[in-house]
Amino acid sequence: MNESKNEIENRKKDHLKIVCDEDVNYQRVSTGFEDYHFIHNALPEIDLKDVDVSTDFLGYQLNLPLMITSMGGGENQGKSLNRGLAKAANSEKVALGLGSIRPALNNPKAISSYAIAREYAPDIPIIANLGAAQLSSSLASKNLSKLLKDIGVDAISIHLNPLQEALQPGGDTSFKGVGRAIEILIDTISLPIIVKEVGFGLSVNVVKRLQKIGIEWVDIAGAGGTSWARIEEKRINNKFYKKVAKEFFE
Ligand SMILES: Cc1cc2nc3c(=O)[nH]c(=O)nc-3n(C[C@H](O)[C@H](O)[C@H](O)COP(=O)(O)O)c2cc1C
Repeated sequence: MNESKNEIENRKKDHLKIVCDEDVNYQRVSTGFEDYHFIHNALPEIDLKDVDVSTDFLGYQLNLPLMITSMGGGENQGKSLNRGLAKAANSEKVALGLGSIRPALNNPKAISSYAIAREYAPDIPIIANLGAAQLSSSLASKNLSKLLKDIGVDAISIHLNPLQEALQPGGDTSFKGVGRAIEILIDTISLPIIVKEVGFGLSVNVVKRLQKIGIEWVDIAGAGGTSWARIEEKRINNKFYKKVAKEFFE
């Protein structure tokens, strides 16, 4: 679907406002982490200050094995959001994923809203992001490699979000050929590629299919945090489609 620059920017603005102002977390379905309990070790034989959770990621030393995942970008609020996140991530030495670079693909004015992250975060890995549904056209445009270089990223993540796009007013629901597009991306760019979801999770079956294609890194982004059905439901006006979105809240 061909969307105007303004439509994409407005949607990003809506998403940010909704997650700030409303409770859009899953209410009943959880991560499942509560099913796991560590057995307490009363005889640890270690000094707490020697516990080291630092790690190497994409060639950088991080204080924690933690990544802030893709959220912002684009001409309006995107720049200040990425500046703030980059400052915080760099000072805490954790990795940073940028929001979808779709607005920058056809609008050079939007590039600085992503490139600003590298300016404020020289010491951490920065990961670009793009939707799988937009991947085929982006590869065809041949601008992608140059754009990733201009933004100064260390990797790219591709988001699979078919349910979000289906619920989203004006969503891009053309997921046919996405697997092949990811395969082509692997051959086209030399950066590491992460495939992620946006909160509905990646099943074992999907991860196995990605592995077969040649994907080595995934961000499962499963249930228990943000529910995109809840976010999109707030943006829908039509009664029937609101009801459909509600069916997917959990
Ligand atoms: C405001 C907002 C914008 C987001 N934009 C993107 C995006 O552009 N690309 C993407 O892959 N994921 C995007 N996400 C999804 C997050 O990267 C993450 O996968 C999702 O929120 C699930 O993690 P959580 O449960 O910890 O929130 C966005 C999330 C939020 C809250």
